[in-house]
Amino acid sequence: MKKRVFSGIQPSGNLHIGNYLGALKNWVASQENFDNVFCIVDLHAITVPQDPKILKQKIREIAGIYFAAGIDPKQSTVFVQSDVSAHAELAWILNCFTPMGWMGRMTQFKEKSEDKKENVSVGLFDYPVLMASDILLYDTDEVPVGEDQKQHVEITRDIAQRFNSIYGETFKLPLPVIPKAGARVMDLLEPTKKMSKSDDRPGRTLPLLASTDELRSAIMGAATDSQKEIRFDLDRPGVYNLLEIYEGVTGLDRKEIEAKFEGKGYGEFKKDLAEKVIEFLQPFQKRYRELTQNPDDIDTLLQEGAEKARPIAEKKLNEVKSKVGLG
Ligand code: AMP
Ligand code: TRP
Repeated sequence: MKKRVFSGIQPSGNLHIGNYLGALKNWVASQENFDNVFCIVDLHAITVPQDPKILKQKIREIAGIYFAAGIDPKQSTVFVQSDVSAHAELAWILNCFTPMGWMGRMTQFKEKSEDKKENVSVGLFDYPVLMASDILLYDTDEVPVGEDQKQHVEITRDIAQRFNSIYGETFKLPLPVIPKAGARVMDLLEPTKKMSKSDDRPGRTLPLLASTDELRSAIMGAATDSQKEIRFDLDRPGVYNLLEIYEGVTGLDRKEIEAKFEGKGYGEFKKDLAEKVIEFLQPFQKRYRELTQNPDDIDTLLQEGAEKARPIAEKKLNEVKSKVGLG
């Protein structure tokens, strides 16, 4: 029996190289060795305001991106979270076993709610419980995500353990799997901040569907520093970030990359990086354009995915309901 992998991405904003290196790339690379479930988490997306038309488009866009990146619907179950109602139902039940204090400590919630106060929804606060439900419904062994999601996988384990300790062994405890390179790709202009898909100011991110001109100009304009050597040095966040992207898209090791640019200037390094990113994204973008010519095909794949996911999720939900004494 293969181990189960579960992961998801929210259908909002523009997916960028950080989402690719932090998440998608690793899903594809280990696809054959696992039983994979990949979700488009639209219920998570509505924890902040969304335009309904755009949300619908983004769900298809993310599906297209999953498939274009190499997720194979024969090896992986790909579906939309709101198509399987067990996710929302389990989230409600787990809400009743999750202390408020645990949620209040979540860094992502603190960051996202910092300057909003009155406008923060209960859903945003509860986001990690819904994520725990996603993961726990499928007896997940591993959750491949970027660094920012590690805390949410850890709280998932805590919620599972608490439930198990009250009702007996019910949920498997999942492990977060964080990649070596690209776990936290930074904003190109402010490299002390995470590259964010909801930030659409030009020059800050490298969107997976961007034109070559856009990619080139963002890389050429990326922040560096006043030093000269091109080395992996965490104290120099701009250069470190660009080198990490180089490592992620070429697969070369760090020593090789440093040797390649020894004695060279930032201009030359950035030019080469831009070419490597473009070379890397072009075949992906071509597949994306081909796949999205027939949006109905994507819808069919998503429906088939939901049909595969639903019985697994419902079985676990029924077990939970019966243990709790519901229904
Ligand atoms: P999100 O963009 O929040 O829906 O995240 C989707 C996936 O991409 C999650 O696994 C994140 O951890 C990962 N991710 C998001 N932003 C970055 C980033 N800047 N660097 C690396 N991984 C990221
Ligand atoms: N919270 C994740 C993010 O923003 C997305 C997500 C939702 C997820 N449910 C999940 C990731 C389950 C892994 C497993 O990136």
